Amino acid sequence: MYNKSKRLRTYLLVLILLCSTVGKSQDLTWTEVAPGVWKATAGIPDKFDLLSAAESKPAMEALGRLGTGTFPLPKGEIAAEIIDGKTMLRFPLMKEERLYGFGLNFKTVQQRGKILQLHVDHYGGTDNGRTHAPVPFYVSSQGYGVFVNSARYITVYAGTAVRKDSPNAPEPKDRNTDKKWNSQPYSDAVEMVVPTTGTDIYLFAGPTPLDAVRRFNLFNGGGCLPPRWGLGFTQRVRSLFTADQVMEEAKAFAEKGYPLDFIGLEPGWQSKSYPCTLEWDKSRFPDPVGFVKTMQAMGIRLNLWTNPYLSPDSPIYGNLKSLSGTHTVWGGIVPDLTLPEARKIYSDQLLKDQISIGISGYKVDECDGYDRWLWPDVAKFPSGNSAEQLRQTYGVMLQKMTSDLYRRQNSRTFGLVRASNAGGVSLPYVIYNDYYSHEDFITALINSSFSGVLWTPEVRGSKTGEEWVRRMQSVCFSPMAMINAWSDGTKPWSFPEVEKEVKAIALLRMQLMPYFYSEFAKYHFEGTPPFRAMNLEPGFAAKVQTELKNSNLSENPYAEAVTKEVKDQYMAGEYLLVAPLFKGQTERTVILPQGKWYDFYTGILAGEGEVIKVTAGLDKIPVFVKEGGIIPMMPPVLHSPAKGEKFDLEIRCYGNKPASYELYDDDGETFDYEKGLYSWRRITVAIDKKGKLAGSVSKPLKGLPDNLGNVTWKFMTR
Ligand code: GAL
Repeated sequence: MYNKSKRLRTYLLVLILLCSTVGKSQDLTWTEVAPGVWKATAGIPDKFDLLSAAESKPAMEALGRLGTGTFPLPKGEIAAEIIDGKTMLRFPLMKEERLYGFGLNFKTVQQRGKILQLHVDHYGGTDNGRTHAPVPFYVSSQGYGVFVNSARYITVYAGTAVRKDSPNAPEPKDRNTDKKWNSQPYSDAVEMVVPTTGTDIYLFAGPTPLDAVRRFNLFNGGGCLPPRWGLGFTQRVRSLFTADQVMEEAKAFAEKGYPLDFIGLEPGWQSKSYPCTLEWDKSRFPDPVGFVKTMQAMGIRLNLWTNPYLSPDSPIYGNLKSLSGTHTVWGGIVPDLTLPEARKIYSDQLLKDQISIGISGYKVDECDGYDRWLWPDVAKFPSGNSAEQLRQTYGVMLQKMTSDLYRRQNSRTFGLVRASNAGGVSLPYVIYNDYYSHEDFITALINSSFSGVLWTPEVRGSKTGEEWVRRMQSVCFSPMAMINAWSDGTKPWSFPEVEKEVKAIALLRMQLMPYFYSEFAKYHFEGTPPFRAMNLEPGFAAKVQTELKNSNLSENPYAEAVTKEVKDQYMAGEYLLVAPLFKGQTERTVILPQGKWYDFYTGILAGEGEVIKVTAGLDKIPVFVKEGGIIPMMPPVLHSPAKGEKFDLEIRCYGNKPASYELYDDDGETFDYEKGLYSWRRITVAIDKKGKLAGSVSKPLKGLPDNLGNVTWKFMTR
């Protein structure tokens, strides 16, 4: 009785509040919730949103180090209104402003002029908002970010709509006579429909676009720090491989001298899949414990594929049935992962016979789409959260649930997932998909940096050796160096004509581990994406802007949405600029930002703030190093260094100026770094008394990790 009247009272209160907000523009009160991060609430937000699904916690100390910023937009020009049970938002846009982000797009980097519906889905070939990580966050070239924390299908008008009361509304033009008529007249706002009664909105200060991205990442907990082995090479074997075949494959890698840190088992490790049992198939894997041990002895970890939908033959089906949604996927139940008891049952199954016997991670498949496969929006879940909310967050919840299991064992993981969203930044997962355009994979890698997610341009098959080596080269300059041979069993050496080149790039990946590991630490501690769009690189925007000025912007006042897209080159860490070649290409142009840039392989000056033409044989992917670049490298080993194992360092230095680099070190496997057990080693290059460059590496404080063996120096620019 008491509960009933209490519920009624709450209901009435919500109703009154709702009525008082409906149809009214909302007074947005902005509170600085972290240095340079402001929050306002429009209407009455859902209880369950993107950040609560990810359970992310702001990295306040790191945000503090970035310092305060100025509120980035004119407050009076940000508007919110609740109409028809939906929240309408408006943010101002300046004339030459460009917009980046809105999730993992594959074909375009610049998003101004787009209409998107942000909806977790398997990417279907069009940048329309339906993608693996439709993160409602955008970054402006003016150096600020906007985030809408709602787990709803948000519709975005990214500078497309024109209000009649806008002070900037363009003059209508006569199409009959005026050549300057444009089908998409100038719009001075980003507008959004959030289909619910309210939402929290966040603004992130700059001053640069990269600063806004850093704040967004840190606000969501900071980037994940993979274990060292996660940055090694990984091979996913054919679906129905047996334990013996997997061991044979690992042996072949060792015999042929190809690096390998972990192997991914695909659906066949489970007794049934699509829907899954989450249980070993005893005919293919009769002794999982022995198998995992043998692999470990060979220096190889194992990652297990799964999708979340449970077969009636799964041992946890019975317990989860009443905790799952009304609809099935491939006949499997969909656990309501917003319920702690459902998560517990699921987690226990992963711990038992998998994590507890040494499985090092998961590939969480099929949490993205397509609509015709996944649960429909009419589905109901026992928690009362909607099908839409679960769709937007399922991938994030799976990442959180699985990574928590590893945290509990004080052991880091690094896995794969096909769906993510805001809050995913601190979860150690890389997104992949079934789409296979090499060019678009690189654009996705670029866009991942605006959305707090990681992306791998995974390699599966190729028609020719040339395509194979080009794809291998770019995957080795990405967050996860992986061949996914689940369907065709391809191996790195499958194309004998380029075997040498493929081996060289896989070993180069291993050599770059100290550099990439440090860059991931910067993702974690500073929020800087390890693989980034050129638009986030200082001195690049200026270059592109000059080019724009010389092209169409000044000629066509309506062309704000048109900018030169640079979607085929990117930054890998602080200093490397990567310019992949694609099938059929022997040369390409590369835009070098301001400052001097050197060829990575030779140290020769390549150019300075200019567009250059490069040619590269099959043995090289064009890579350039910024002036003062210091690249710490290790020997071309076949497995990443284990906990406590020392490794030698070859430090390559580019240019002729004094420079420095922060090298990160910890045990590479556990979460002890969170207790302060890590060191930053300062690498310094100075000019000595004889006028020559000389390098030194600082010692770590007593008791802090020190995994460096011999250090040698290579001054690449003579
Ligand atoms: C797909 C996935 C592939 C592979 C395959 C196995 O959904 O994207 O990478 O794992 O399932 O059936």
